[in-house]
Amino acid sequence: MNPEEIDFYNLGFDFIETNQMFISEFKNGEWDEGKIVPFGPFEISPAACILNYGQGIFEGMKALKGKTGEITLFRPDENAKRLNISAKRLLMPCFDEERFINAVKDVVRANKEYIPPYDSGGALYIRPLMIGSGPILGVAPANEYKFIIYTVPVGPYFPEGFKAIDLEISMEYTRAAPGGTGYAKTCCNYAGTMKPAKETKTKGYSQIIYLDASNMEYIDEVGTANFFAIIDDKLVTPKLKGTILPGITRKSVLEIANTKLSVTSEERDISYKELFNDSCSEAFCTGTAAVITPIGSITLNKETRIFNNSEPGELTKKIYDLLIGIQRLEIDDDFGWVEKI
Ligand code: PLP
Ligand code: COI
Repeated sequence: MNPEEIDFYNLGFDFIETNQMFISEFKNGEWDEGKIVPFGPFEISPAACILNYGQGIFEGMKALKGKTGEITLFRPDENAKRLNISAKRLLMPCFDEERFINAVKDVVRANKEYIPPYDSGGALYIRPLMIGSGPILGVAPANEYKFIIYTVPVGPYFPEGFKAIDLEISMEYTRAAPGGTGYAKTCCNYAGTMKPAKETKTKGYSQIIYLDASNMEYIDEVGTANFFAIIDDKLVTPKLKGTILPGITRKSVLEIANTKLSVTSEERDISYKELFNDSCSEAFCTGTAAVITPIGSITLNKETRIFNNSEPGELTKKIYDLLIGIQRLEIDDDFGWVEKI
């Protein structure tokens, strides 16, 4: 789509085609140089491993435009590392981390006219994607792969923006089980969440809070974001135990809380029952797409807990302001997280 035709001030989280993408091919045991090419379809064998057995992984990142026009990335080294953790889980070839970051920068530069303006609050979403493209019949890893990076201009993931969303706890569906692929960003982890998401949206909720599959008691995460709550004045988030995606926003929020706020943080099991107690005063979720999204209410069956009259809580707002401030170059980045392109 022509950038002039895009209303950057009213973007949602929908696919919009941009000009260029990066593609690198893995053949005979190595990745080629990779190149920037016009965005568009490519041929793939019907027997490709991704099409038959779902051997695919991805990442999600954002490029932002600062007040004076600088283009920035947030902790791209973390996405490079996580891609390779996912790759190892699905027996896919790793992609050199420095080359990953350079390729991301090249794609952003090639699509820079699609980066939403600073005052729109939007971002250029970056989607690195690795797929097993080689043909296969028995269930085994492909012998050829494609690594693609494309971009899409986006607004907020939840149409509510920085407004509280309503979530439902599912006692029916789970996202990941111990020993599975929950900690990796595999394409297949998301396919199974579409039906639960559709059903909960029909009931008026934005997303599902998934519980741990072993006990159906402890919070794992929200469909596309990590979960946080303020309980007994402490910032708590479920501890990583293989079933939860280790979010880069999650990690950053913990580091911000530990160094910039006088709040104690804990990574521990959180029973859903705790969310219905008065000791739990705020809840929010975090992610690249979701940024920090306050949770206004949580429902389980017929019981609903409303937080702070469905307004963003005080600590949630503080954390949001700090994170967004660092990402948008409005607050000093003492952590060295922001990388200018
Ligand atoms: N959990 C899931 C299932 C996600 O899809 C995402 C989004 O990437 C997250 C958590 C948050 O991760 P991050 O903060 O790295 O974007
Ligand atoms: C992200 O936050 O980057 C995600 O990947 C979430 C979702 C769009 C899959």
